[in-house]
Amino acid sequence: MVHILQIDTSPRLEHSHSRMLAREFVEKWSNYHPETQIIHRDLGLNPVPYIDATWVKAKFTPPDQYTPELAETIALSDELIDEFLAAERYVISTSMYNFSIPAVLKSYIDRIVRPRRTFAVDIKGFKGFLAEAKMRIQELATDW
Ligand SMILES: Cc1cc2nc3c(=O)[nH]c(=O)nc-3n(C[C@H](O)[C@H](O)[C@H](O)COP(=O)(O)O)c2cc1C
Repeated sequence: MVHILQIDTSPRLEHSHSRMLAREFVEKWSNYHPETQIIHRDLGLNPVPYIDATWVKAKFTPPDQYTPELAETIALSDELIDEFLAAERYVISTSMYNFSIPAVLKSYIDRIVRPRRTFAVDIKGFKGFLAEAKMRIQELATDW
């Protein structure tokens, strides 16, 4: 079983070109690989909140010191990170707004880039935690 995480970002639920492309790709992919499981994260329909003061505080607070408010904001981040790490492949459909990605996609990235969960930093620099996931992708790629 291979998991694909499909992330749609357009606020347009109808007439969206990026949604249509992602849908067609995933449909065709699934026809060739029926064992694929699609997880769908719809940022256009359910946007992830922007970075706020609570999030910044939560990010740098040890878990045993969380208030209920900090725990709630971390719970959403945990859910997004668990979902992201569980996938082996990703389909991200996005428009371009004013020469950049939409704010909802940036907000999503901001919530999954988190010390101790997806990266660590020390005197030697940054270390991402997705290398293991990438190795799994390479193993799968040989079967496909
Ligand atoms: C406010 C706004 C800004 C945009 N900025 C850009 C841009 O900088 N570059 C570009 O190539 N297209 C730009 N576009 C075009 C969109 O990327 C394009 O219409 C895309 O199909 C929208 O995605 P959707 O069809 O999935 O909703 C812009 C559209 C809007 C509404």
